[in-house]
Amino acid sequence: MLAMNYRGPRRIRADKNMPEPEILHPEDAIVRVTRTCICGSDLHLYHGLVPDTRVGTIFGHEFTGIVEELGADVKNLKVGDHVIVPFNISCGKCPFCQQGLYGNCNEANSQATAVGGIYGYSHTAGGYHGGQAELVRVPYADVGPVVIPKGMDLDDAVMLTDVTPTGYQAAEMGGIRKGDTVVVFGAGPVGIMAARCAWLFGAGRVIIIDHVEYRLEFARNYAYCEAYNFESMGDVVAFLKKITGDFGADVCIDAVGADAAGSALHTITGKKLLLQAGAATALMWAINSVKKGGIVSVVGVYGPTWNLVPIGNVVNKGLTIRANQASVKRLLPKLIEHVQAGRLNPKGLITHRVPLEEVADAYHIFNGKLDNCVKTILLPPKAAVA
Ligand SMILES: NC(=O)c1ccc[n+]([C@@H]2O[C@H](COP(=O)([O-])OP(=O)(O)OC[C@H]3O[C@@H](n4cnc5c(N)ncnc54)[C@H](O)[C@@H]3O)[C@@H](O)[C@H]2O)c1
Ligand SMILES: [Zn+2]
Ligand SMILES: [Zn+2]
Repeated sequence: MLAMNYRGPRRIRADKNMPEPEILHPEDAIVRVTRTCICGSDLHLYHGLVPDTRVGTIFGHEFTGIVEELGADVKNLKVGDHVIVPFNISCGKCPFCQQGLYGNCNEANSQATAVGGIYGYSHTAGGYHGGQAELVRVPYADVGPVVIPKGMDLDDAVMLTDVTPTGYQAAEMGGIRKGDTVVVFGAGPVGIMAARCAWLFGAGRVIIIDHVEYRLEFARNYAYCEAYNFESMGDVVAFLKKITGDFGADVCIDAVGADAAGSALHTITGKKLLLQAGAATALMWAINSVKKGGIVSVVGVYGPTWNLVPIGNVVNKGLTIRANQASVKRLLPKLIEHVQAGRLNPKGLITHRVPLEEVADAYHIFNGKLDNCVKTILLPPKAAVA
């Protein structure tokens, strides 16, 4: 089948000879992909920042598809169902899944102590192939997939696999109270969605920070927020405190993660020398510019090893830091309602639609922030009919 094929850092190709997935367990399904996206999380893989990303891996944890084949024990799906597949792979039965923590399943990635299973996200996330392909194996098929509601646009549906729930959960974990000032670091699709969702939780003021001008402009229009370029701020923390009444924001959201720019020290130690797990620049700014007693919500992805972050300040300021992978399955019913009621418009983030055959160019454009790219959808050859 046609799929993307990882050949090493910054080397990706479309490969027509990738082996088709097979049912390996009676609870598996095989799904024919109809839409799949490239995510900021894929860029950490692309840059070689995620340990144990093996050559030959198919990336892609954001996809919708039509059920083509089912294992003998799957009860909730039938062949032909068109489904939203959450990016987390979860068993539905372990103590963590039972609490709605679908991103922390203990069974789907039993070798790990932190993250659960994720499609196409290295062997540290379970070693599953992803959906930037014509076909994908979906384990625990009774648990994750949700049939796309009648009338829902496919582009909205695929944006419900990750970006929308992650942005929403970032705002939710911020514990936003009515009138709060919320600062979101990162105007990528996740940060823009977090800014938009902050209003749903009652924020009084929403500010987004990035250094890519076209994304700041996009965020102003899509999320109705203030948007500032950190390169023209001088001291970022001092600037943010000044515009938030000196005490700092009530809530800061890190929607950047390990690939952050903005601090030479973090970039050299974390991205060039790999002496820490990527650059935690946005997290550092979030901790230092939130008010005392504030809440820092982190959805930006960091590796498991240590970082040069001001953890002492977390203690001395009495901060609450909330972080996790989004629990997509838990959030889907609520988010489908928001989309159907017109309060959220996920497909409005999509700027590029690219045939799967051109996956290498698509990564190049998204990674380089070229051509005003915010969110890219990849279309497998037969997807146009779906
Ligand atoms: N927790 C989860 O469930 C989950 C799910 C999806 C994505 N993520 C993570 O969320 C993050 C954002 O994803 P995305 O798809 O929007 O990525 P993206 O790469 O498109 O966007 C990141 C943005 O951050 C900006 N940026 C860089 N350094 C910055 C800094 N110091 N301060 C402010 N902005 C800065 C970049 O210019 C870019 O626009 C990534 O780390 C991704 O891995 C987490
Ligand atoms: Zn993603
Ligand atoms: Zn589980």
